[in-house]
Amino acid sequence: MRAGYLKYFGFASIVFLLTLLLISSGCYRKRPSDKPPIHLNPNMDRQEKYKPQSESRFFEDRSTMRQPVDGTVARGYLREDVEYYEGKNARGKFINKAPIEIDMNRMERGQERYNIYCSPCHSRVGDGRGIMIDKGYLPPPSFHTDRIREMPDGQIYDVITNGVRNMPAYRHQINPDDRWAIVVYVRALQRSRNATINDIPEEMRDKIK
Ligand code: HEC
Repeated sequence: MRAGYLKYFGFASIVFLLTLLLISSGCYRKRPSDKPPIHLNPNMDRQEKYKPQSESRFFEDRSTMRQPVDGTVARGYLREDVEYYEGKNARGKFINKAPIEIDMNRMERGQERYNIYCSPCHSRVGDGRGIMIDKGYLPPPSFHTDRIREMPDGQIYDVITNGVRNMPAYRHQINPDDRWAIVVYVRALQRSRNATINDIPEEMRDKIK
């Protein structure tokens, strides 16, 4: 039986001690205080470290924020394929042909993206009379002029990527693959205005006379 009492007292004294600890640690404090409560288990909550945009007494420029080493490339952004990502060849000249496979899916994707991103200004047919022009936006040139018909594919890609003069850049809204899809769709629009009978499959020719 003695062992049983001991067990009981052992338990009671642990409870008693824990209560004392709670009270003394401040969790149970009744009066408000400006001081932080005693932190029994720090759990690495407070560490010696630099926080973003704070001052440093170590670095010369007095900022804790460091510049990445020259030539640092974010993961997934190496983009060595300059033709695909910039529309230019190794010598910096615009490439003539889009470096992608063209099929019906790609065309339809290009059409969809064009109608979303370009048609408000350039119109669905590319004559530069989109709805934005009625609202007072500066009219863009028609895609059906010789100058733009003769532009290399890479240059149209570049216009979408970086914008040009009064046209804003669409780099952030449209990914490279979709930019190329738009380029080939613009080519299709241009061809639709300058088609000859030879562009139409033979079996369909008599339908359009
Ligand atoms: C907010 C209106 C607007 C949108 C949207 C827009 N453009 Fe333009 N775009 C312009 C204007 C304005 C110009 C004429 C820029 C200038 O010469 O100042 C232009 C010019 C161009 C040119 C001719 C560039 C040159 O060198 O003359 C091309 C090609 C072109 N846009 C393609 C596109 C494509 C493709 C899209 C869709 C991804 C697009 N634009 C979306 C307004 C727009």
